[in-house]
Amino acid sequence: MAATRLTEPQAGELGPTGRPYPAFPEPEPLLEHGPARTIAVCNQKGGVGKTTTTINLGAALAEQGRRVLLVDFDPQGALSVGLGIQPHDIESTVYNLLMERDVAAHEVRYKTSVDGMDLLPSNIDLSGAEVQMETIDKVSRRLNTKLTIDGLLATMYDSRTLHTREVLASMVNGFGDQVFHTVINRTVRFPDATVAGEPITSFDPGSTGAHFYRELAKEVLERWRQAGDEHGG
Ligand SMILES: Nc1ncnc2c1ncn2[C@@H]1O[C@H](COP(=O)(O)OP(=O)(O)O)[C@@H](O)[C@H]1O
Ligand SMILES: [Mg+2]
Repeated sequence: MAATRLTEPQAGELGPTGRPYPAFPEPEPLLEHGPARTIAVCNQKGGVGKTTTTINLGAALAEQGRRVLLVDFDPQGALSVGLGIQPHDIESTVYNLLMERDVAAHEVRYKTSVDGMDLLPSNIDLSGAEVQMETIDKVSRRLNTKLTIDGLLATMYDSRTLHTREVLASMVNGFGDQVFHTVINRTVRFPDATVAGEPITSFDPGSTGAHFYRELAKEVLERWRQAGDEHGG
């Protein structure tokens, strides 16, 4: 539908964050893979689009030739379900990987429908691991000195409501350039894609939602390029 395309900001125009919208360069092909960079998608609130962002940013990065491994750390297994993998079909999960010495990552790794994107799934077993993980969390937090913020992403944006415009404005006010220029629109195609067990980039490749996650992937890759930091340690 041509009409919905109008909501996609063009380079040089004022974007939804109130700043001029840049043209993100086409990412350079990756000549060698690894060491991996770990990205955590976090917000203390539920239902804000973390799982949706993980699936779709992952799929859009995979489209850019980056190899992606998604790790589901939610005992509800929403990330796995969102990729069409049902909890009862899973033999081993990240729980086994964390708790059993003789289990290797490749034994727990599932291919997704997206080329170059694999998954370490989770299910309710993981809720048992949470207590045992307390200590590990504290230690790794102390060791993780390289923790940086890649950016803040506004999701479920609906330009017709004053509320979302105000929330985005106050995000930019407080966090400035840490806020991604890319903003994810609110559209029912996201829940539709979740039900279909697919990223929106393949479920509805021409949709605005797919477009914005592709923009986000380019913006993220450009931030890493500028920081000389695509590879993690
Ligand atoms: N941009 C969006 N527009 C509309 N619905 C969305 C959007 N992003 C996510 N959703 C839907 O909102 C619900 C919560 O999203 P989810 O990614 O599961 O949040 P979280 O992982 O933060 O709990 C899901 O039903 C999802 O399909
Ligand atoms: Mg979630």
